[in-house]
Amino acid sequence: MSDAKREEAGEVKEVKTGAAKLKSEAYFQEKDLWGFIHRSFTKSMGYTEEDIRKPVIGICNTFSELNKCHSHFNELVDYVKRGVWQAGGVPMEFPTISIGEPYVKPTTMLLRNLMAMDTEEMMKAHPIDGVVLIGGCDKTVPAQLMAAASANIPAIVLTGGPMLNGRLGGRSLGACTDCYGFTLEHKAGNITDEELAVAENAICRSDGHCMVMGTASTMASIAEAIGMALPGCAAIPAPDSRRRHISERTGKQIVELVRRDIRPRDIMTAEALENAIRVTMASGGSTNAIIHLVAISQRLGRKLPLEKFDAISAETPFILNLRPSGKYQMEEYFEAGGVPALMKELEPLLHGDCLTVTGMTVTENLANARTLDRDVIRTMAEPLDSQGGIAVLRGNLAPDGALIKQTAVSPQLKKHTGRAVVFESPADLNARIDDPELDVDENSVLVLKNAGPKGAPAMPEIGQIPIPQKLLVKGVRDMVRISDARISGTSYGALIVHAAPEAAVGGNLALVKDGDEIELDIASRKLELKVSPEELAERRKSWVAPEPHYDRGYGLLFHERVLQANLGCDFDFLLPKELRKELLES
Ligand code: FES
Repeated sequence: MSDAKREEAGEVKEVKTGAAKLKSEAYFQEKDLWGFIHRSFTKSMGYTEEDIRKPVIGICNTFSELNKCHSHFNELVDYVKRGVWQAGGVPMEFPTISIGEPYVKPTTMLLRNLMAMDTEEMMKAHPIDGVVLIGGCDKTVPAQLMAAASANIPAIVLTGGPMLNGRLGGRSLGACTDCYGFTLEHKAGNITDEELAVAENAICRSDGHCMVMGTASTMASIAEAIGMALPGCAAIPAPDSRRRHISERTGKQIVELVRRDIRPRDIMTAEALENAIRVTMASGGSTNAIIHLVAISQRLGRKLPLEKFDAISAETPFILNLRPSGKYQMEEYFEAGGVPALMKELEPLLHGDCLTVTGMTVTENLANARTLDRDVIRTMAEPLDSQGGIAVLRGNLAPDGALIKQTAVSPQLKKHTGRAVVFESPADLNARIDDPELDVDENSVLVLKNAGPKGAPAMPEIGQIPIPQKLLVKGVRDMVRISDARISGTSYGALIVHAAPEAAVGGNLALVKDGDEIELDIASRKLELKVSPEELAERRKSWVAPEPHYDRGYGLLFHERVLQANLGCDFDFLLPKELRKELLES
């Protein structure tokens, strides 16, 4: 569609530069005291009179040496700035908190909402006409998209890119799918300490985020599919020169978005969200994406029930052959054409008229996209699986839903009934999972309680409950495991997670006892605790809510205001007022 047609259709608003006031003009063009102060203080940093008449582009740089996945961001920022200057804007870099998965305790999910608040308030409080949001590690891109949805000033996402494939003995290694694999085999006694150390050195050999289709790669793909990042951005490896090129183009494009006043809410429509969900399902994307997409949608004032994910998953073939559900990694995905090539395959199922940060529609963006390696990106006619990666389960164990990444489940466990082995908390799990006396066999169902949003706290990625040592040495590598926790997008196995309501608020998960029978049937989306309603009511009489983990500060705020997993784990007060009323009253 041409610009004129989009303007006719009301999709593109009036070009503002030189016509209406930019936000920065109110700071720099006024002749009063504050205009004087703003100009004077800004010029002291080396900006000229000519500079402060240009659109101001905030560059949200989340570089941190505490966040390995963002360690190269200062270089990317230089390229973004080059693009901003070239397009006639003036770049101003600012920091926010930066959340890296490996270090943050108790879990990065505790800080996602804090980062979203930090980013939103920085965007709103300063003379910024548009912003480049640079993220990468798991929680950073969702936090930035949530902030962009709420602040609604012109914004574009630049992701930092995946690491190059790890290499060892001619084999490709992936973080962190192989982190689990190596430590599992070490625990089983199949590899030595020395071999483990060699693997540690080989797996992460470049800048960038995890290179399997984990949460970071999923969220980078979502940023692109939803229209908030330039086409092709997600899969370019971090050290590849083409990431520098796209950084510069991103800098140029944000100035164009400001000129045309294209804002996040013009882009992240309900249809764009559906495109993002479809790409996630076709890619075998992370279960964490569900929580984040719900949170983003709610920031935009729209509910996003889990049924929507299940419906789209059921009609979307799984066509991307990437680990942990498939064979390859992000480097091969990039060479095969990346997200644009995948979206081209899915085009008949996509909303092609959604506006994107290119200023063009999805269909226009995909005009020249094509797949260069058919073993990496399959056709819809010859998929890896006829359905998408994630299934939503219902039943008395999770009346508000639970998730399973069905593409990563061992085939024999897709329909399974077994007796529960219950752990009351993460600490109880750690204390007893390898106890030789634990009454467990390969048909048991491992149940972990009190690992949800309030329970753990902040829903850590511990849903990949370890296989007990005594079963590991017998060769068992997968079992049905249920929790109210999350899992890393790099996890694999029969892992049922996000059970809602969580145990800590009295969900039925809290009432499971050792020996109870539990039935899983993925095909019929069923997760059932085979205990009568009368018996559950009886058990509920003696249930006591666990004590909160915090008695002050941000932790207490999180505990008191976080929503359940099926509502995106956002804080209730960050939702638009009308939606907040509707959700909390229902
Ligand atoms: Fe940052 Fe895996 S640790 S993406």
